Amino acid sequence: MNVAIMGHGVVGSGVAEILIHRNSLIAERIKNDINIKYILDLREFNDLSYSDKFTKNFSDILNDDSVKIVAEAMGGINPAYDFVKRCLLAGKSVVTSNKELVAAKGAELIKIANEKNVNFLFEASVGGGIPVLRPMVQCLAANEITEFSGILNGTTNFILNKMIVDNMSFEDALKLAQENGYAEKDPTADIEGHDACRKVCILATLSFGKHVYPEQVATDGITKITLDDVNAADSFGCVIKLIGHAEKLTNGKITAFVRPTVVSRENMLSGVNGVFNAIMITGDQTGEVMFYGKGAGKEATASAVVADVMDCAKHLESRKYLDWCDGDDNYVVNDTDSEEKMFVRIIGKDFDSLKATFQKEFGSLTSSVTKNEFSKEICFITNPIKKSVLNEKLSRFENIEIKILHTMI
Ligand code: HSE
Repeated sequence: MNVAIMGHGVVGSGVAEILIHRNSLIAERIKNDINIKYILDLREFNDLSYSDKFTKNFSDILNDDSVKIVAEAMGGINPAYDFVKRCLLAGKSVVTSNKELVAAKGAELIKIANEKNVNFLFEASVGGGIPVLRPMVQCLAANEITEFSGILNGTTNFILNKMIVDNMSFEDALKLAQENGYAEKDPTADIEGHDACRKVCILATLSFGKHVYPEQVATDGITKITLDDVNAADSFGCVIKLIGHAEKLTNGKITAFVRPTVVSRENMLSGVNGVFNAIMITGDQTGEVMFYGKGAGKEATASAVVADVMDCAKHLESRKYLDWCDGDDNYVVNDTDSEEKMFVRIIGKDFDSLKATFQKEFGSLTSSVTKNEFSKEICFITNPIKKSVLNEKLSRFENIEIKILHTMI
C-alpha cells in the first residue's frame, strides 16, 4: 500500500519515522505493507535513510494512482487546503493533524470524501496523541453529548502552571515555554486561544453534528492573566486554566467559548498540569467521561496520524460516515447571559473602604481576601449571577480596576 506524506516538520517526520521503524508491526496489525512512496517538502533532507523519497512537486503525489493514502502534516490553510481537496477529488484518502484546516474546511472536505468514497480522518487534530475523536464518535455513539470542557492547549497550560506553582510572571513562563520548544517563536495562536478555539470547533461539530466555525466561538486567551489573579484564585482553592467549552442549549442551538476560567481544585481539570491536555465529555447515558494525555509533541501526535493511516488502509473500500453538516450563522449563541458564579477582583483605594462598599452591594463577602496590610484589592466569588447584572452593579463604581473571570466550581 503506497502512501505519501505532505510536510516533513515535527509531525511529518514523526509519521515517517513510525511508518519506517514499525513497518513490520504495522503490517502484522493491518495485514498489509505500508510503503512511503513520496514525502513532499520544499526543503532539502539529504542525510536521511529515506532521503530518496522526497519530492518538491505535489503533482508527483496527485498523479500517482498507486498512492491511496496521503498524510497531510504541513499545517495552516494554504496550500494544505488546496492539496488535500485535490487528493480527495482524485480518490485518495487523506489523514491530517491540521486543526486549522479541519476547523475551517471540515464540512466541505468530508462531503468530498463521502462523494468520492474515501476517508478524511483527523484524530491527531485534537489532543495530539489522546484518542478522543474516535471514542466520541464511535464509543459514545449511543449518547446525546450534552457538553464538553477541556484543556486543549499544552503551551498555555504549561505557562499557567508555571505561574501557579513557581510564581513566575506570564512573560517569564512564556519565555521558558519557548526555550523548551512548546511555544512557537510567534506564540500568538496558543496564547490568544486560537489553537484551542480550532479544537473546540472540531469537538463541537462532532458532538452536535453541525459545523462550528472558529469565528463563531468567543475566544479569549491568557495574555491578560497576571500573577495577582493566579494568587487570588489560589486563596479560594482554585487555579486559573484556559478552558474550551461547548454545550447544547434547550433551543437546539449551542454555545461555545475558549476563556481563562477559575477552576476549583476539586474539579478534575484543575489537576491537569504542564503540557498535558484533558477533555471531559458529558454523554446523556454515560455521564462524564474524561480523556487525558499528551496533547502535543512529535511522537504522540504522529502516533495518532499513523493510526489514521492504518485505519484507512484497513478500510479502503468502506468509508467512515461522520455526522458533519454545514453550519449556519445563527447556530452558535455567544452570549447566553446565564447565571454563573463569578470571580471578581477589584483594585481600589484601600481594602476596608472597598470591602464596605462591596459588602453593601453584594451582601456579606464571605470569600473576600487581602494578601497583605497594604493591599488595595478585594476579591470574591459571587453567588450565581448574570454577567449583565454583575456588570451593571459594578459599573456604578468609578476609579477602580475590576477584573471578572468565569468560574468552574
Ligand atoms: N501548540 C499546540 C499546543 C500544539 O501547545 O497544545 C498542538 O496543537
